[in-house]
Amino acid sequence: MLPLIPYPQRIEEGDGSPEIAVGKDGEPVFGRVKSDFLPEEGYELFIGEERTELKAATESGYRYGEVTLNLIASAGNPSTELRIHDKPRYRWRGYMLDVSRYFFSVDDVMKQIDFMAVMKLNVLHLHLTDDQGWRVEIKKYPRLTEIGAWRRRTLFRLKRHGGYYTQEELKSIVSYAHERGIKVVPEIEFPGHFTAAVAAYPELGCYGEGARVAETFGIKHDVACLGNPAVIDFIKDVLSELFPIFTDEYYHIGGDEVPAVRYELCPKCRAEKERLGAGNWAEVQAHFVNEIAAFLKENGKKTITWNETEPTGIPDKEIIWQYWQGGLKEEALVKEINAGRTVIMSPAKPYYLDLPYSENTLQAIAEYKDVPEGADPDRILGLEFPLWTELVPDEETAERRLFPRLLLMAEKAWRGECESSFLYRCEEFGKVLTDLGATIKKKVPLPPKGLKGLLDVMWFNRCRLYWGAIPNLIRNAKVAKIAKQRIKETENEK
Ligand code: ACM
Ligand code: ZN
Repeated sequence: MLPLIPYPQRIEEGDGSPEIAVGKDGEPVFGRVKSDFLPEEGYELFIGEERTELKAATESGYRYGEVTLNLIASAGNPSTELRIHDKPRYRWRGYMLDVSRYFFSVDDVMKQIDFMAVMKLNVLHLHLTDDQGWRVEIKKYPRLTEIGAWRRRTLFRLKRHGGYYTQEELKSIVSYAHERGIKVVPEIEFPGHFTAAVAAYPELGCYGEGARVAETFGIKHDVACLGNPAVIDFIKDVLSELFPIFTDEYYHIGGDEVPAVRYELCPKCRAEKERLGAGNWAEVQAHFVNEIAAFLKENGKKTITWNETEPTGIPDKEIIWQYWQGGLKEEALVKEINAGRTVIMSPAKPYYLDLPYSENTLQAIAEYKDVPEGADPDRILGLEFPLWTELVPDEETAERRLFPRLLLMAEKAWRGECESSFLYRCEEFGKVLTDLGATIKKKVPLPPKGLKGLLDVMWFNRCRLYWGAIPNLIRNAKVAKIAKQRIKETENEK
């Protein structure tokens, strides 16, 4: 069995016993043939007795053909001649790394880029900001990294945690990814998941009472104030500093999990809602998001948000939605797609890599229908697989969450479906990953089963309760008290 993940679309076997010629650098030698008839990113690879030949129409086609050839050659000469016809099912084959909840070093990010390249994934989405840490140097707002990049303790170790990427470091990550045919999408999250920014600049929040960089998880109340024009200026300033670094066309601006109760209690937000004549908070948020999307468009960028900027609001149709479900049921999604919205599919179930193995099983991943029934398939830009890192404090843990699931996901994103020999190829793929520096030794471990699987899910749910739900209930009550007091004071002043 060829050691390939994703498995190619079609392989024809011939007679003969090819010997792949190898150059001085140890890399296979092959002839390059330009063929304009092949699809973008597609390739045709022939490994014969006399020659090895790679046909493609584009540089990315050659790159993927070379990845395939290198993997085959690393396992020795094939037993028969091979002609491989290959092309991806989806244009967007993404992986998201949350570097906010835990910081990952430049070396770790680059190692993960190497994993992506060998799996033919082509978009790295970096979730750079959240309640638990602001990870990108912004020269105009130095407190974002002086204060916002650090939290007093983590739940795994009772000591300070943090870090951030300088602009130069981010440029080196982007160029490392580009050399491997991978685009990089930065995500600056707002108006929710904004505590780290509020900790650094309290005036960006609703009451200016400040906050600490979050030490627990879940949905936090320290959101960006929708009624303060300085917030829009802040977001535009931050994005402007990113344009020379993140040179690909897609920018992600978050938009999920915003607790509207905070706005309800904020006089500035309430005044803004009235000014816009908006029927609900989703509309106010959509107005805010549209303004930033227009700014990105003026700068030649395309905007992505999580799907939660609800269809009940009025988000611009050019904004791409990353569907993670939120409150949006599949029927509403189909309606939205058929009304012209482009979508990236990242449903939490089954594509969140941090969820327990017994929830997002290999079978669930393999069986999930990426094009919802009745939806225009051309509006599905592709698939993306997020690794949220609330419970992933380091690279070694990350790799335990990624493998084997990301391998299966990458196969789906490339082929459109999984090939039946996956489990066998997956175990063997460990060697490839080890050579790239993974902590996996020899064989990729298969998901935990039985008691181990049960403990995995129990631990996950316990953490969610103690490190998210309970602390947030307490914080919500405190915020409501402050807000009521503020509103009373404002009314007394009138
Ligand atoms: C998300 O998982 N809140 C996008
Ligand atoms: Zn406000």
